Amino acid sequence: MKRHFLRLWDLTKEEINAIIERAISLKAGVDAQQCPLIGKSIGLLFEKPSTRTRISFEVGIYQLGAQAVYMTPSEIQLGRGETIEDTARVLSRYLDALVIRTFEHERLIRFSSASDIPVINGLSDLHHPCQALADLMTIKEKKDRIAGLKVAYIGDGNNVANSLIEAAGRIGFSLNVACPEGYEPDAEVLEEARSGDGEIIILRDPKEAAGRADVIYTDVWVSMGQEAEKDKKKKRFQPYQVNLQLVGCAREDVIVMHCLPAHRGEEITNEVLDGPSSVVFDQAENRLYAQKALLEMLLVQ
Ligand code: CP
Ligand code: NVA
Repeated sequence: MKRHFLRLWDLTKEEINAIIERAISLKAGVDAQQCPLIGKSIGLLFEKPSTRTRISFEVGIYQLGAQAVYMTPSEIQLGRGETIEDTARVLSRYLDALVIRTFEHERLIRFSSASDIPVINGLSDLHHPCQALADLMTIKEKKDRIAGLKVAYIGDGNNVANSLIEAAGRIGFSLNVACPEGYEPDAEVLEEARSGDGEIIILRDPKEAAGRADVIYTDVWVSMGQEAEKDKKKKRFQPYQVNLQLVGCAREDVIVMHCLPAHRGEEITNEVLDGPSSVVFDQAENRLYAQKALLEMLLVQ
């Protein structure tokens, strides 16, 4: 059965936990010689730049026995005005799944509605669910549990924050989001996630949010596509920098996470990013295993 993955909320708690467990096994080398997707082709249609998502998908797809077909709008007729729907119908005739990185989340919904194959969100302006899977895997790997932990997200209420909120709702951890007024996470995402298990609180004070936290998470202040707001946001977000003083408010064994790429010296200082609490490069590595486990779930019958 065709199944899309456009937001973390598309998966149940049990499915998310199964992906995390499988990803941890894959990382440990279990089934390393198996190629369950042999003969398949998976498209990667990217309308924004990417290091981690693109390369981890390409490598993971190869390791699972399939081939990746990377494309940008300017290289296909989409960039010359062919509709999203026609593009989705045609690609469905060749490919077995399609990973899309785009701007408005609505574009992904249009793609998936016209597509006969699974569509995976490789980041939209509203969600970054593949990132959230790797984030959960990393927390589990470092803390041995996720439910019941206290996570503080400090900064912009963006796509990464929205997916983390859905993770809190599904898995059941406590999430404090500290952001300036006017930069809150998406209201609908928040409302839906609050119908789940976790406690999700929006605060203004980063120190209050980080107090006794097990995990501190941040992301860039200016996401891709928001460059026009750069100067305004940089000023507004200054008090939300993750620095040693802020990390000092958390538990001694706090882990610091960032989806990367980081703007060093803006949302996070070098001392923190390169310091002993930082797990950001393990987090980046885990994208590979979390996405392999996701692809197995969506494509192996
Ligand atoms: N974290 C993340 O999605 O990174 P890329 O933009 O490099 O893919
Ligand atoms: N919020 C960032 C995440 C990049 C991985 C962006 O959308 O640019």
